[in-house]
Amino acid sequence: MIKVITYGTYDLLHFGHIRLLERAKALGDYLIVGVTADGFDRARGKINVQQSLMERIEAVKQTGLADEIIIEEYEGQKIDDVFRYGVDVFAIGSDWEGKFDYLNNYCKVVYLPRTEGISSSDLRKKQRELNIGMVGETAVLNKYEKESHYVNGACVNAVCSNDHTFFSSEVKNLPIITDDLQDMLEKVDAVFIASHPTEHYSQIKQTLEKKKHVLCKSPIVTSTKQWQELKQIAKQNGCILMDSIKTGYATAYHRLLLLVKSGVIGEIVSMEVTCTSLFDLERRSNINYQKVWNSISAWGPTAMLPVFQILGTDYKQKQTVSRSIEGLKDFDLFTKTTYVFPHSVASIKVGKGIKSEGELIISGTNGYIYVPAPWWKTDYFEIRKEHQSENKRYFYQLEGEGIRYELVSFIKSIHQSKQAKCISDKVSFAITKEMEDFFERKDFIEI
Ligand code: CTP
Repeated sequence: MIKVITYGTYDLLHFGHIRLLERAKALGDYLIVGVTADGFDRARGKINVQQSLMERIEAVKQTGLADEIIIEEYEGQKIDDVFRYGVDVFAIGSDWEGKFDYLNNYCKVVYLPRTEGISSSDLRKKQRELNIGMVGETAVLNKYEKESHYVNGACVNAVCSNDHTFFSSEVKNLPIITDDLQDMLEKVDAVFIASHPTEHYSQIKQTLEKKKHVLCKSPIVTSTKQWQELKQIAKQNGCILMDSIKTGYATAYHRLLLLVKSGVIGEIVSMEVTCTSLFDLERRSNINYQKVWNSISAWGPTAMLPVFQILGTDYKQKQTVSRSIEGLKDFDLFTKTTYVFPHSVASIKVGKGIKSEGELIISGTNGYIYVPAPWWKTDYFEIRKEHQSENKRYFYQLEGEGIRYELVSFIKSIHQSKQAKCISDKVSFAITKEMEDFFERKDFIEI
């Protein structure tokens, strides 16, 4: 019996896939199809895959062409599989011409001509071409414009801003440049907002009232009443209103959460989270503080994210210690908050007027997790135990600081009319509540 093996993602299974499978099967008597796992695709930069692994496996099964379906999970697995399954022929589309010649040492390699005019990428693009407008006055928009090119079906076509000083030539050359939000809203399907937090409420409300979706740099707003109102409008108008915290979408961060929840370091007793970015000291005297994000707004949501996602939002007690700029009480240069839970404690330290080691430490009854600075661009972390020999290191490639994964998640949420679970409403509300407490000086010591 001649055994043939082939591999693919098979997202939104199409005619090209079926033709490939038919010809692969015809090369022998028994066809094994390797379907790529979600994590493997992500690791090799294929971030837009729309269907889950199980859906893709089911689609391949339905073709009736596969005698056996396996999952491809790691780089180099193909050699293992050839031996494990006693494979005689390895077949793959001609877009991979030459790439798998090394398998010739173990079996016969056949490149089959690719079917012209169809691909999963094209189907995804056609299905989900969304025009996105950006709002704000910051260089962050340059990054989002750049990253959008990696996301199938996301087309940044507009920017609404009062100040173009920080914009890249790409942003300056977008088809629609305006300072009138209403004008921009006529021409887009969704909006990314990175303006100053004091402008969020009005901008989000206008956008949702036009039935357009919103991704907004967290905190969405700094009042819980406004948060509830905006979420209500979003619900009524069938719109997505999502917090933008890029760290929340990084693969390593996600894996870290799963490991913590599976109990690898035991019960969590303490967390320390630090995020700082020092102002340019020479520029300090020229800064217009009305337009710049204060420390807790700029860093608070990122720092609070792991605390609320790991320990929950129902802390029993809190103490905030903060130092602001003289004469500008709402502009904190440094803020440290300690949250006391029934059996654990967490502290977040944020600052734009101080510098510190930007690390994340999660201490448990059976070890701790250490994420080195800058932890919010997590691609690496360690699990450390009492005995060094038990320590483990984890690395997951982080592309584009997590922004492209966040955009993929936003687009997916819009198409599925269901907000991605990554940053839940519970966490989003808790962040807003923290902001409200800060500006109301609740549990607060000024130093
Ligand atoms: N394939 C093909 N003809 C096409 C598309 C895919 O023969 N028009 C083949 C590929 O060469 C590969 C298999 O089908 O051997 C699975 O490919 P996959 O990467 O899952 O499909 P694509 O449509 O190429 O996906 P994407 O656009 O995401 O790269």
